[in-house]
Amino acid sequence: MKKLFLLLLNSILFCTCYAQEHNMSANYVSPTDVVVQDKLENWQKLKFGLFMHWGTYSQWGVVESWSICPEDESWTQRKGPYGADYNTYVKAYENLQTTFNPVKFDPDKWVKAAKYAGMKYVVFTTKHHDGFSMFDTKQTDYKITDPKTPFSSNPKANITKEIFKAFSKENFMIGAYFSKPDWHSKNYWWPYFPAKDRNVNYDPAKHPDQWQKFKDFSYNQIGELMTDYGRVDILWMDGGWVRPKNTIDTTVDWQKAITFNQDIDMPRIAEMARKKQPGLIMVDRTVAGPYENYATPEQQVPEKPLDHPWESCITMGNSWSYVPGDKYKSANEIVTLLIKIVSRGGNLLMNIGPGPDGDWDPVAYSRLQQIGSWIKVNGEGIYNSTAVAPYSEGNTYYTKADKSNIIYAFVTSDKDEVVLPANIKLHLQDINQVTNITLLGSGKKVKWTSNKSTINISVPAEVQTRNGLTQAAVFKIQY
Ligand code: GLC
Repeated sequence: MKKLFLLLLNSILFCTCYAQEHNMSANYVSPTDVVVQDKLENWQKLKFGLFMHWGTYSQWGVVESWSICPEDESWTQRKGPYGADYNTYVKAYENLQTTFNPVKFDPDKWVKAAKYAGMKYVVFTTKHHDGFSMFDTKQTDYKITDPKTPFSSNPKANITKEIFKAFSKENFMIGAYFSKPDWHSKNYWWPYFPAKDRNVNYDPAKHPDQWQKFKDFSYNQIGELMTDYGRVDILWMDGGWVRPKNTIDTTVDWQKAITFNQDIDMPRIAEMARKKQPGLIMVDRTVAGPYENYATPEQQVPEKPLDHPWESCITMGNSWSYVPGDKYKSANEIVTLLIKIVSRGGNLLMNIGPGPDGDWDPVAYSRLQQIGSWIKVNGEGIYNSTAVAPYSEGNTYYTKADKSNIIYAFVTSDKDEVVLPANIKLHLQDINQVTNITLLGSGKKVKWTSNKSTINISVPAEVQTRNGLTQAAVFKIQY
């Protein structure tokens, strides 16, 4: 009953608006450091990762951080009892620090579920744009371990550390999401002026000392994350408006509004960070250049394979951060997304937003369970694979096993239950002679004929239906 009331209250007070979306960079610059190249190559083999947006905002179920941004966009609207007045609202928002107490926080439970689903890396919001640090930083007291935050007395108070430790134990690659903009820092939104939009609210060129303080603050926070949190493989930096002015792409809408040079000296950050974490993959998203080691299309899948490393970050629900009653994608939709992305050579970073109590919505666990059952049977066609022409035809998607003569054909289904046609025609290139075709998970032989460019598979009647397969059938083609 209480839950229902909260749900109702939430839908009255706050809307589930989509957040602003980062575009994908048009250019790519390969890293020159061989240790970075190696790590990046390993990361590309992992294919499936877990993203988590979590902060004090999860208590209100609003669009993470954005409601304190003074822009008039659908995702920045302020609702609720404090919404009418900006300053009152920000005060109440920052006060969320004093009620954040996610006592159900148990990262081992997340690792278990993510591992079963076949996820191999994790990216966690150590700090979002609102500036609330989910780690024990010494640079500010707007943080999870400050005595004002009730959770600070919990043995697992240093949330980032606990998450990284738990996932490292299971050999996940570890990614730190870090927002470059910090709307709590007095050196980003200087209280002398009102904040006007998401950007720095003074001209750094006119106030270089103030900007230097902000640069040092960011450098120090990243330094802490690179020093005290074990192995970190990826530094995933969001908030692309914090960038050198000469990197602005004026064809992108949100970049047009950047008036000031917001250079935080990425070379200095990278040098320090990579000294502490050799081979660190840096993802200065949308700032194409040596520090954007992979591209991050957001809530979308590129139409074709790209000629450089990439990852689609996509929400499992509709929102990045927790919203009560959020509508989650079905296991079928998620598996199809994974197949599509992998057939184009990318990785899927799937987001789940933990709730204010410190746990996920039960629906998220059940999705991961279903995905895991599919992965158990078909994962061999996903991991370590590369894209292979023609990539897809109709609802069939291809991957190629790395360094061996095996191609996997994924026939997706729009239902959990897979029904196959009697004949499947595949148009593959450069295949001399097919030596074997098996349908993963069926234990049944299939017959085929082939010539240089076409394979005709006959599916026996008893395998077309009631084959026990879910989400997508996978044919393993050896040649
Ligand atoms: C969008 C959202 C931002 C979120 C990011 C994740 O850009 O606006 O809040 O962190 O997506 O990729």
